[in-house]
Amino acid sequence: MSGSAPQKRLYIKTYGCQMNVYDSERMADVLSPLGYGVTDSPEGADLVVLNTCHIREKATEKVYSELGKLKEMREERMAQGGARSTIVVAGCVAQAEGEEIMRRQPAVDLVVGPQAYHQLPELIARTHRARGERLAADFAADVKFDALPTDRRPTGVTAFLTVQEGCDKFCTFCVVPYTRGAEWSRPAEAIEAEARSLAGQGVREVTLLGQNVNAYAGEGGLAALVRRLAAIPGLDRIRYTTSHPRDMDEALIAAHGEVDALMPYLHLPVQSGSDRILKAMNRAHTAGSYLRLIEKTRAARPDIAISGDFIVGFPGERDADFEATLELVRAVGHASAFSFKYSRRPGTPAAAMPGQVDEAVKDERLARLNALLEAQQRAFNAAQVGRVLPVLFERRGRHTGQLVGRSPYLQSVHVSAPDRLLGQIVPVRIESAARMSLAGVLAEAPELEPA
Ligand code: SAH
Ligand code: SF4
Ligand code: F3S
Repeated sequence: MSGSAPQKRLYIKTYGCQMNVYDSERMADVLSPLGYGVTDSPEGADLVVLNTCHIREKATEKVYSELGKLKEMREERMAQGGARSTIVVAGCVAQAEGEEIMRRQPAVDLVVGPQAYHQLPELIARTHRARGERLAADFAADVKFDALPTDRRPTGVTAFLTVQEGCDKFCTFCVVPYTRGAEWSRPAEAIEAEARSLAGQGVREVTLLGQNVNAYAGEGGLAALVRRLAAIPGLDRIRYTTSHPRDMDEALIAAHGEVDALMPYLHLPVQSGSDRILKAMNRAHTAGSYLRLIEKTRAARPDIAISGDFIVGFPGERDADFEATLELVRAVGHASAFSFKYSRRPGTPAAAMPGQVDEAVKDERLARLNALLEAQQRAFNAAQVGRVLPVLFERRGRHTGQLVGRSPYLQSVHVSAPDRLLGQIVPVRIESAARMSLAGVLAEAPELEPA
């Protein structure tokens, strides 16, 4: 940090997906001209923002318990003569249940949805003057992006970059189409400008974000955008998430085989291996069509790491449906995966479906699925032992003299290495593997395998 010290402290707590992480950074960007500097604890903060997630009931409930704590913290501080902090709820819970938040927790000063946070400076000024408008939840992704500062201050050598927002798919279990609005794509020029600015500040790897990132509707789709960004000097690695099987087109698959900067990693949620359940979920793909996509992508890029999302206990899921999910998982072989128990979300079609599954059954299925996915993840990691992988060093490790980096397959790699290698992509010989990470030693450059 340089220049004069910021006079006001901003604490942002981020829940949910990577897009919320991106949004939190952008909120800090819009607030910085007002003199707010980011701090890593809520105590003593002048402005506290909870950037929330609505995807499952648990995520939503966390927000209310956190708000209770913040309220107490503020009261204590004021009792000791401190200034009154401002409490803001942002993100998907703000969008979905703004009115309810203000009713359940009157200590909240401001509620601002995911497409309205560019208005934060104005809204905060207003709450300080009088208790006027306290809810901003309009859908205006285009207005938001136009209002955000073009220059970002990246926090490391990897960065998220939102290229698409919203969802038109309406899977019957999911709140996202209601919290993020309709699918909308940023113009490619604006994305390129942001990527260039990041690269100019030392960012080597960007992850392009969208609720359905491969539905990116700029000219030529996501494949063209990836090729365009791959031409930016210094930007050596590109990833994207989350994609939908329906939007996985030939051009994008081909790019995996042709664009060196496009990392061999694909997060492609499938949710279930049962066609009956997939239909009830309104996923518009089958287990078979999903497997064919994986096959095609592997034909283009044989070493690609596959990741996915799974839901167990969707309404009407029988043992045979769940067995079909296990079968699909066995057929794919995952490098990583996220699995969830179905959570009934108010207002979504699945919440009203008959055949809601017992919690105990969900628990049992989740445990079985996780055991299988964990075994696959261990096997994938173990298969790297003995290879030399290009690793982007991101940060210092917990032990002195140790750096932590990222493999092309998004594994964390721990290596004894000097600080001067931070921000560099360096060949590492992998010597051991655990479930979540790899460890290795610096290798000679000539041993570098193409990845
Ligand atoms: N847009 C992405 C994912 C969005 S949400 C996609 O379509 O793949 C991330 C994951 O949360 C989903 O893939 C799904 O596995 C899970 N999820 C969404 N709604 C859920 C619910 N009601 N209960 C449990 N898991 C859910
Ligand atoms: Fe939710 Fe489905 Fe849209 Fe993904 S595609 S955000 S799971 S509705
Ligand atoms: Fe959660 Fe909203 Fe992301 S509901 S998963 S924060 S899009």
